[in-house]
Amino acid sequence: MVMSMEKDQIALPVDEFPQKWYNIVPDLPEPLPPPKEPETGPSRMDFLGRTMIKECLGQEMSNQSWITIPEEIRELYIHMGRPRPLYRAKRLEKRLNLKKVKLYYKREDLSPTGSHKTNTAIAQAYYALKEGKTTLSTETGAGQWGTALSYAAQLLELKCVVFWVKSVYDWKADRRVLMNLLGAKVYSSPSKQTKFGRDFLSKNPNSQGSLGIAISEGLEYAETHDNTVYCLGSVLNHVMTQQSVIGLETIKQFDMIDEKPDLIIGCLGGGSNFSGIALPFIGEVLKGKRECDFLAAQSMAAPNLVKGEYKYDFGDVAEHTPLLKMYTLGHKADMTPIKADGLRYHAAGPIISLLRKHNIVKAVAYPANEKSIFEAARLFLQAEGWLAAPESSYAVRASIDEAVKAEKAGKEKTICMNISGHGWLDLEAYKEKLGFS
Ligand SMILES: Cc1ncc(COP(=O)(O)O)c(C=O)c1O
Repeated sequence: MVMSMEKDQIALPVDEFPQKWYNIVPDLPEPLPPPKEPETGPSRMDFLGRTMIKECLGQEMSNQSWITIPEEIRELYIHMGRPRPLYRAKRLEKRLNLKKVKLYYKREDLSPTGSHKTNTAIAQAYYALKEGKTTLSTETGAGQWGTALSYAAQLLELKCVVFWVKSVYDWKADRRVLMNLLGAKVYSSPSKQTKFGRDFLSKNPNSQGSLGIAISEGLEYAETHDNTVYCLGSVLNHVMTQQSVIGLETIKQFDMIDEKPDLIIGCLGGGSNFSGIALPFIGEVLKGKRECDFLAAQSMAAPNLVKGEYKYDFGDVAEHTPLLKMYTLGHKADMTPIKADGLRYHAAGPIISLLRKHNIVKAVAYPANEKSIFEAARLFLQAEGWLAAPESSYAVRASIDEAVKAEKAGKEKTICMNISGHGWLDLEAYKEKLGFS
């Protein structure tokens, strides 16, 4: 089938790339509940002060709507291909026989390491360098964040240590090679490198790990090693703010074609890619400047927004972090490993959780067998030609479902999904889930 010659790629000129990140905190419908100390044990705020990047902790508490992106970070963003294009999914629309519904997708998969995670990795590595640090430590689930931080560390000539959830470390051999090529030290978590890991392993020798466990290890590593800071790839406010470049670009791209999305969809684990695309739009909704709905796509393996409780909880299993007010399944919840393991986190970050409470963000969770997710990914690949990451394929699934529902109801609708990453290093999952030998 030959399509019309109308352009399906909306490219934002480089000089239109945002100068500032958008921080939604001052625009939220009620003050964001602050982090809290638990009733017992040492001060968790002091611990974060010792182990994290000061500038990021400052941004975490910031009440400023706009934070200037330092010129060096802007240069690195542009170096790695920002602004990223927005696409109209004309071929997918055709396959779904959509007449009234338009589908668009934002291309975070074009990142050098394969996901949106580089947007905050570059910022965190830059600030760590400025603060005189030599080593970054972190956790990773899908492996995308670990690769993004290894990449950013290498660009700025820093070292990087990654604790990688065992269930994924074991099958993503190629992504491990990429992290090693980028010079990172990568450990399967729970590991023997930290006291917490050793204690956990002695009680649970067959543990498959979890993001909560890996975060505890990354934090302990930073605490016990000189000149090392811990970097987090999701959940916290400064990560959401640094990801806002996604949505800020997308707003300008829709303006360029005089179109307004009615529904924005992203997959959601801790909330960083969803926040990246959605928060700049939500800010305008809260100011009465636009109307739009927001849908987070999750797995039933970790349905924090769908089944979680809104309460104060720890961000990690070892209880190193302060308590954060979040929709949570409990920081010790046992969650079945899935192929989209980046979505397997017990809680959604405080900003997204507050917006969920106000029903501004809605959520859907798909069965943990992931069958419908991988089928959606295959259809997207065959129609549009791009292989989405397993996590991003949840956004694809939800967008297809919402498009078909609106079409059946005879409603005009413009849907925009975020393709948070590519799946070229996840082929093992595609092989297993779609039955190729
Ligand atoms: C490609 C991709 N998308 C989404 C996610 C989920 O994380 P978040 O909710 O922070 O975007 C991950 C996490 O690793 C990921 O790798």
